[in-house]
Amino acid sequence: MGDIQIRGATKRFGAVTAVDGVSLDVADGEFLVLLGPSGCGKSTLLRAIAGLTPLTAGALELDGRDITHTPPRERDLAMVFQSYALYPHLSVERNIGFPLRARRQSRHDIRRKVAEVAGTLELSELLQRRPRELSGGQRQRVALGRALVRDPGAFLLDEPLSNLDAKLRASTRYELVELHRRLRATFVYVTHDQVEAMTMATRIAILNQGRLEQVGTPEEVYDEPASEFVAGFLGSPPMNLFPATIVSRVSRVSRGGELVALAPGMEVPLGRRGEVPDTDVVLGIRPEHLRPNRPHPAMSGTVRLLENLGGEEIAHCAVGEVRLCVRGPRPLGLAAGDEIGLAVEPGHVHVFHPETGRRLRWQDDGAETVPPSPTEHTEQGVPA
Ligand SMILES: Nc1ncnc2c1ncn2[C@@H]1O[C@H](COP(=O)(O)OP(=O)(O)OP(=O)(O)O)[C@@H](O)[C@H]1O
Ligand SMILES: [Mg+2]
Repeated sequence: MGDIQIRGATKRFGAVTAVDGVSLDVADGEFLVLLGPSGCGKSTLLRAIAGLTPLTAGALELDGRDITHTPPRERDLAMVFQSYALYPHLSVERNIGFPLRARRQSRHDIRRKVAEVAGTLELSELLQRRPRELSGGQRQRVALGRALVRDPGAFLLDEPLSNLDAKLRASTRYELVELHRRLRATFVYVTHDQVEAMTMATRIAILNQGRLEQVGTPEEVYDEPASEFVAGFLGSPPMNLFPATIVSRVSRVSRGGELVALAPGMEVPLGRRGEVPDTDVVLGIRPEHLRPNRPHPAMSGTVRLLENLGGEEIAHCAVGEVRLCVRGPRPLGLAAGDEIGLAVEPGHVHVFHPETGRRLRWQDDGAETVPPSPTEHTEQGVPA
């Protein structure tokens, strides 16, 4: 079992609040990724779960048992660090078996268990080598093996792939997902790499300055970001975010007006009807959702620059005062200097509160739409 409950976890280092009231349930067998920019508190939170950093406030439970003050070695959790922290003078076999020797298991049991783990990680041929005789990826697997051999309740991994080159990262990513599938164990995995998070996680928890911004499946956090921060952090290039004003445009056909977001050079239909007072918001549209040269463009502007990414192309465009990225399969059929119209489907327009940055949700009251209000959030940062 490996069910981890984090309740109001807070860690201060003097004046710095590294982790700020984080509450999160990690279910048994989940692959939970802690994602966020450098310094947002990911490692501190992971080390607190491992027991290496005591919390200033809050509580931790493992399978319903309070472990807030339990020493690390009694927590039944295995941690894998970015630097592999292998013993350079010991063979691969002895590195992997180290935790079992520390627990004084029999030589026979240790040999059997190490052989089993080495088989899983395809290290059987390398057991007599020293760490310096291994590639980065092989060393990382040895570090994983040392965690695996203990059969822990959960694995805690802190940027384990960041020392690997791009190709090895991609293949090790795949191996880790396979391993997780086979072991059905709980993984809590720290990274600042959104590709790792999107491809590996069953759920992603996004941290910003020690606070939990949102927890959800990769699809949820990408498709319905709970805040401007999450919207701008995920995606490459990130979501276009710019100020706009929502107004009701009088319409002859419907009772109440049609809601549109206005900004210089744009009039973006929101697919809603109702009477709302003019409301300042931040609008968000992903680059892949802006379609050049379609009927009924919501904006008009100029292409400034094209970037060729191989299979795809990015057009940097100026619309009124804002710069927008448009992404699509190459060729987009555009050239620098072109005047263009850009269309977007109402379902792909995100709206955020201009001060709090929280996502605004429409509340439909019969046929009427009332002004959007900030998303209600539960303690876990998940939309209620
Ligand atoms: N031992 C410490 N003493 C003082 N401040 C610390 C200590 N450890 C971390 N911090 C501070 O706490 C904040 C969070 O640090 P943390 O290492 O958890 O960030 P991170 O999200 O893991 O960043 P990175 O992606 O760069 O590894 C930072 O501002 C950091 O400077
Ligand atoms: Mg870190």
